[in-house]
Amino acid sequence: MSLLSRAYPLTRAALFALDAEHAHELTLAALKKTHACHLTRALVQAGPTPSGASCTLMGLALPNAVGLAAGLDKNGACIDALGALGFGFIEVGTVTPRPQPGNPRPRLFRLPAARSLINRMGFNNQGLDVFLGNVQASHWRRGGGVLGLNIGKNADTPIERAIDDYLLCLDGVHPHADYITLNISSPNTSQLRSLQGHDALDALLSAIRARRKALADRHGRNPPLVVKIAPDLQDAEIDAVAELIPAHGIDGIIATNTTVSRTAVQGQPHANEAGGLSGPPVHELSLNVIRRLRTRLGAETAIIGVGGIEQAAQAIEKIQAGANAIQIYTGLIYRGPSLVTECVQALAGLSTTAA
Ligand code: FNR
Repeated sequence: MSLLSRAYPLTRAALFALDAEHAHELTLAALKKTHACHLTRALVQAGPTPSGASCTLMGLALPNAVGLAAGLDKNGACIDALGALGFGFIEVGTVTPRPQPGNPRPRLFRLPAARSLINRMGFNNQGLDVFLGNVQASHWRRGGGVLGLNIGKNADTPIERAIDDYLLCLDGVHPHADYITLNISSPNTSQLRSLQGHDALDALLSAIRARRKALADRHGRNPPLVVKIAPDLQDAEIDAVAELIPAHGIDGIIATNTTVSRTAVQGQPHANEAGGLSGPPVHELSLNVIRRLRTRLGAETAIIGVGGIEQAAQAIEKIQAGANAIQIYTGLIYRGPSLVTECVQALAGLSTTAA
């Protein structure tokens, strides 16, 4: 067991004594400093990748199928340090075209009895230019690391103009991404989730498809594109997503974002805070979405399973439900970086299917 894993219960106790967002900022800053001193690998001791861990996702060769979910590093400011924790791929963002402050604080809450979080961050980020500067300054991709760039819309862009924001972001991230995620499922940007409806999604993906073709011609590359969806969709809405994704040449789906449901945490402190709930209550919801998607999609459309993975068992369940790879966020906060190694080892023992 690595030093960081052994020390994590103590570190966590100290961090949990602080306001959740402050703790998050301190952790990222400390991780970045540790990495600058070349200490992350020594502390994490990610160790040799177990045989059988490597896989292919949307044509991308991954050392393992365990990724970092979007939202932890919204500005792409800590890519190298996060990469050193043993992830097979890293996703940063959500970035919006222009910088924006997000919602007023407090906007991130812990629900320790459910090992969950509620956030209504509202895409606080420094905007596309700073994001691209950070991405280009990082070494992760140059060392062969796979990087996903997650894009969204500004809060003050009317929903009827949302496509403009996605196209602006697509233009910017296209040359620098191994894959690109269209995030249309955050509950914290007004009306964003309406883009998941059949007609709105059809219009968005038509515009994206045309721009993608132009960008591929211009840059001579065509990074895979995925759409990130909510766990709260009705069956008919999931079916519409499953119909439109392959029809528009989209390569994959990330299932899922946070939930607006509070059933699993009723009565707990902070349960009534507005925002998206993450952690174990999302696991079953996202599994149901993954299962339904997989029965409707051919094997060539990738599914990245995310939501409530806090032990290897849930990572395995995501793959068995039809996911090709997984991502984690909240589990990392409650369990520390040993969760990454635990999931990598568990998935190495499974035979995953390429998509
Ligand atoms: C998120 N998530 C998220 N997703 C996204 O696509 N863009 C984002 O900016 C954010 N921001 C964000 C902030 C915070 C504080 C949390 C907890 C989560 C959603 C995240 O990537 C993931 O889909 C869900 O949290 C479910 O996974 P976990 O956390 O249960 O493993």
